[in-house]
Amino acid sequence: MAYEISFITPKVKVADTFVFETSLWSSEDKMYMAPMHGLTDYYFRNAFAKVFPCTIDKAISPFLSLTHGKLEKSTRKFKDLLPINNNNDIELIPQILGNDINGIIEVANTLKTMGYNEINWNLGCPFKKITNKNRGAALLKDNQYIEKVISEVFEKTDMHLSLKVRLGYDSTEDIFRLIPIVNSYPISSITIHPRLGVDEYSSEVDLDIFEEVSKTINKKIIYNGDIKTVDDFKILKNRFPQIKDWMIGRWLIYNPFLAAQIRGINYPDKMERLIAFNNELVGSGISVNKIKEFWGYFSKGLNWEAEKLDKINHLQTIEEITDYINTQK
Ligand SMILES: Cc1cc2nc3c(=O)[nH]c(=O)nc-3n(C[C@H](O)[C@H](O)[C@H](O)COP(=O)(O)O)c2cc1C
Repeated sequence: MAYEISFITPKVKVADTFVFETSLWSSEDKMYMAPMHGLTDYYFRNAFAKVFPCTIDKAISPFLSLTHGKLEKSTRKFKDLLPINNNNDIELIPQILGNDINGIIEVANTLKTMGYNEINWNLGCPFKKITNKNRGAALLKDNQYIEKVISEVFEKTDMHLSLKVRLGYDSTEDIFRLIPIVNSYPISSITIHPRLGVDEYSSEVDLDIFEEVSKTINKKIIYNGDIKTVDDFKILKNRFPQIKDWMIGRWLIYNPFLAAQIRGINYPDKMERLIAFNNELVGSGISVNKIKEFWGYFSKGLNWEAEKLDKINHLQTIEEITDYINTQK
């Protein structure tokens, strides 16, 4: 099988490199890029789609918060979602964070006019700054309110609605109370990160509860959490053969090759490709601090010794960073 890679000049044709059906990955499986505020914004998604084509099917955008500023279609607020900024082949689902019904409906209707058909509602953010205001994972305590929002979204917009949740805020009872609601509305999918909100990222993912939950939800479930390696994916895939939708967050940034590796795609030129990714990110105009932040992740994925990252962190300009990275081929 040959596949033409057209994004790095000169064009290269790689024989026997791209394998889309493997024992691990089938054409029914879908790979999602997790929303990561400040990381998986449009410039990251665009660069990713260019340098690692055909590895991510869909992305949920980092959350659009309902609490800051006016809700009209301001360029600043909707910048990440403007179609002109998303010229890539990853299907994008905008995510909103908040609890104000009117705000949610207003934003959903605005997003409709921008060409979107689905919104994702964040019911999983664990951070105190968010949960203290009864947003994100904290809302998992209030099923009645969740149901009210869901029913109004279906009544007052013609947007599809998907949810991104944890197993609960402070108890797994929360998700079991939510299931009948999810099952009784035409929710398009539910992404489950199998931890509690109060655990943030400290505990292990609870696959036993996930298993129980996944057996009782009658909607499409997207699994999300701690897929760090191909072997992690293998274990999940064997344990949950009914799950076809997979979302990766942090380890897609530590190791941008992970989705490709899971799909059986092996790039012969790893460092070169990472440099191409760096160049695409740089070309999008991101700041020197942001590129350092990304190299903080990439360097961990590459198992670099700490001195190399220190070196990058001490460089002053993007050009110096790019020159340094080029010496690491
Ligand atoms: C820095 C950071 C930003 C995040 N931003 C969002 C967000 O905007 N919306 C959201 O639903 N989840 C957000 N998350 C959670 C991730 O989408 C994902 O659920 C979580 O990292 C677990 O997946 P992973 O183990 O593959 O990283 C964020 C996580 C991190 C670490």
